[in-house]
Amino acid sequence: MKVLVTYFSQSGNTEKIAKAICEEASKAGNADLKKLEEITPDMAAGYDCIFMGSPLHAGSLAAPVKKCLKALKAVSGQKIAGFITHMAPAYPDQDMETFAEPMKEACREKGIEYKGCFDCQGFLAESMHGPVQEKLSLDDDQWADMVKQMTGRPNQDDVDNAKAFAKKLLAQN
Ligand SMILES: Cc1cc2nc3c(=O)[nH]c(=O)nc-3n(C[C@H](O)[C@H](O)[C@H](O)COP(=O)(O)O)c2cc1C
Repeated sequence: MKVLVTYFSQSGNTEKIAKAICEEASKAGNADLKKLEEITPDMAAGYDCIFMGSPLHAGSLAAPVKKCLKALKAVSGQKIAGFITHMAPAYPDQDMETFAEPMKEACREKGIEYKGCFDCQGFLAESMHGPVQEKLSLDDDQWADMVKQMTGRPNQDDVDNAKAFAKKLLAQN
């Protein structure tokens, strides 16, 4: 089975999870790690299984990821799973389902099998701290708590959980 792990990442969090998933997938066979910018719909069509990663941007998948999903070719028998990093400690399952909707929609349209989505916390880039603290109307103590919670994420547990997600999914194929 040919596996593609592709991702969009601005500050490295989603990339860290992508590398972990690719490391796990490589144990099961042929796996390629590529930035989203490096792939084309024709290239993606050549894989049996795609893991596609995105940071959460304003409560949705990042714009380049949505664009890529729309451009995917219909490949019968192909499978896709998502992975998302976000600065919030955790989201209810229902919210995660909504965030993954553009991926599910692309799958429905193209006859690709959607295999679920992994998510974990990821440190917010320093340059965004001021604006986000203001947007969320958090005082300095509340913001310091938030920063403490996200510091070091994704951590080793997140990496291990991402690998376990990939392992379980690939074992089903
Ligand atoms: C423009 C922008 C919007 C964001 N919106 C959200 C959001 O709605 N919810 C959230 O939990 N994190 C949000 N974040 C935080 C990122 O999802 C998080 O830091 C992620 O791990 C970044 O991944 P990356 O390092 O792969 O780019 C946002 C970050 C940016 C830059």
